[in-house]
Amino acid sequence: MSKVSIIGAGNVGATCANVLVTGQVADEVVLLDIKEGVSEGKAMDIMQTANILGLNTRLVGVTNDYAMTENSDVVVITSGIPRKPGMTREELIGVNAGIVKSVTENVLKHSPNAIIVCISNPMDTMTYLIHKVSGLPKNRIIGMGGALDSARFKYFLSLALEANATEVEGIVIGGHGDTTMIPLTRFAAYRGIPASSLLPADLLAKVAADTMVGGATLTKLLGTSAWYAPGAAGAQMVAAILHNQKKLISASALLEGEYGESDLCIGVPCIIGRNGIEKIVTFDLNEEEKALFHKSAEAVHKTNAALAGAI
Ligand code: NAI
Ligand code: 2OP
Repeated sequence: MSKVSIIGAGNVGATCANVLVTGQVADEVVLLDIKEGVSEGKAMDIMQTANILGLNTRLVGVTNDYAMTENSDVVVITSGIPRKPGMTREELIGVNAGIVKSVTENVLKHSPNAIIVCISNPMDTMTYLIHKVSGLPKNRIIGMGGALDSARFKYFLSLALEANATEVEGIVIGGHGDTTMIPLTRFAAYRGIPASSLLPADLLAKVAADTMVGGATLTKLLGTSAWYAPGAAGAQMVAAILHNQKKLISASALLEGEYGESDLCIGVPCIIGRNGIEKIVTFDLNEEEKALFHKSAEAVHKTNAALAGAI
């Protein structure tokens, strides 16, 4: 029996629940929100697709009833406010730190062995906050941001290459922020062929630039931040954990010397399996990429400093 709880039944949380149910990733999913009726309504709507789509996963929605989340294998935290056009993810810290802290405490009371996937923004800082609040081992706290940024990178790469998105490779590391993420263009490929040999340098640079503002572009178009790909990326993490897939996914992990950094959570290539972050993989970065990574880490440290009152 596998059980997943999603805290926050907003756009991202409900989409994540929908992907978990339609993909039959878990046996049971609990969708919890503080807003009366919202999670119940969304869960009911999703479950009414069960007969149409032939689904067996059970989804229930609850209003703030953490007892229902008891013994979850994985808990996905999406509660908090999203960015509005013109806002950075970092500007959400004041409100979201309080929410993420109390949610973490409630979750662990009922599921002391759960692996936590953090999506709430500013995600690297919220992931770090969960470490500070919970004291859990580093493998059990995973920040979701790099998975989404990498998916966006591959989307823009596929457009530039006029290729199928499933046939391109690309990874984004660093902070989950418009100026802190690092699309590793040197490692991007189409069926093993370096993208740098298939695309002119200025087009590859545009792919990277579009990726970095990928979230902001959608926020401008939608009036709030995106949810389909973020929800699916959260579900991808859950599947990798529950099904012990040992997938290489960019995720925000607590660094203790890896990549020359420590005491922060930031996006690095991770092997995700039944134990959460089973390994942080060290890529052989060149000097320019190393410098970008340290600059990104510096910015994340700066955002973390704003947590002083919250932890
Ligand atoms: P939303 O506003 O649609 O949903 C947030 C939900 O959280 C609301 O339903 C709200 O009632 C609930 N909530 C607030 N306080 C709560 C509490 N204490 N307990 C339980 N539920 C609570 O927002 P959306 O679009 O779903 O985004 C959620 C978060 O995810 C935002 O912080 C957003 O910035 C972040 N995000 C992160 C991404 C990433 O890649 N890491 C990508 C997209 C969004
Ligand atoms: C995104 O990247 C805002 O983090 C959110 O869409």
